[in-house]
Amino acid sequence: MKSNQPILVSGVQPSGVLHLGNYHGAIKNWLSLQHTHRSFFMIADFHALTSQAHVQDPRANYRYAMALDLLALGIDPEQACLFYQSDVPQHAELHLLLSMITPLQWLHRTPSFKDKEDKLSHEWLTHGFLGYPLLMSADILLYKAQAVPVGTDQLPHLELTREIARRFNHLYGVAQFPIPEATLTDSPLLPGLDGEKMSKSHGNTIHLSDDADTLTQKIKRMKTDPKRIRRDDPGTPEDCPVFTYQQLYNASESEQLGVDCRAGRIGCVDCKARCAQAVNHTLAEFHDTRQRLSHQPQKIHDTMNAGAEQARTVATATVSEVKQAMQL
Ligand code: ADP
Ligand code: TRP
Repeated sequence: MKSNQPILVSGVQPSGVLHLGNYHGAIKNWLSLQHTHRSFFMIADFHALTSQAHVQDPRANYRYAMALDLLALGIDPEQACLFYQSDVPQHAELHLLLSMITPLQWLHRTPSFKDKEDKLSHEWLTHGFLGYPLLMSADILLYKAQAVPVGTDQLPHLELTREIARRFNHLYGVAQFPIPEATLTDSPLLPGLDGEKMSKSHGNTIHLSDDADTLTQKIKRMKTDPKRIRRDDPGTPEDCPVFTYQQLYNASESEQLGVDCRAGRIGCVDCKARCAQAVNHTLAEFHDTRQRLSHQPQKIHDTMNAGAEQARTVATATVSEVKQAMQL
């Protein structure tokens, strides 16, 4: 495998199906960087257990759907190693070892914990949830990643990873872990239907696998510039999530649409119809590939097993170095 290329690691939680935010914030980079980096992509199913959603709805395990989406998008098992995180137990082992040198304060201050600390009932404020960013650090350090393509919401977790890597290297006197860098796309924070960050947990997502009707209906009810009440009111495209989509999916028309919106010459209903058409057009080829691939579950299963096997080889070597450094 491409041993002379820089190492790249990333992951996505299978707590829902892949959405446009995942694509624009991270997966777009996975697709291009798999050709220039030695890449490890995980479907982070341990991570998906850190929220209570999996207990309330045990069917909500989207591992397979996630693998299908990623392969249909063009993650190439010949180029990159794609696997389910829980098939590589070394993630859990390194998480435990790193937990011994991770000050609790570092975990308490991560935004993912702080934001939910007052909202979750005490029985769901779990050890696993507090430690979730450290598990992500273990995911990254296990493969000695240099590059980590993620959306902006994950930057604090990457900062923690860098601190843990430095601390380990310092405490054990060896330059064991490279200090990884985030790789952002040009659209690292995509708004959802309500204008807030698109996220599986906010119920504001557009899925890559949504059929054309569903997608059109979703865009129809998308929030627009709140100051625009009547059709001929002048709009402010920068304040409108639909305009973000026009820029991404309808680049050739978006400038004119912006001008027309500002002048109150195009209404939101027409603008949304054109937006939906452009998004559907872009996704059509992916839908065809996905449909074809969905008839080959055994192939997907084999691909994921082969990916886990490759990942385990690298992961076993790292854990054994770490154990040696820690005198185990
Ligand atoms: P979610 O927030 O929906 O649970 P994940 O946490 O599994 O999604 O995110 C997987 C990747 O997609 C991460 O790199 C994350 O930063 C990125 N991502 C998620 N939502 C968005 C968004 N709205 N805009 C840009 N990137 C996003
Ligand atoms: N925590 C990330 C998220 O919620 C997913 C993830 C798990 C990840 N392990 C990772 C991302 C390793 C980058 C590297 O989006």
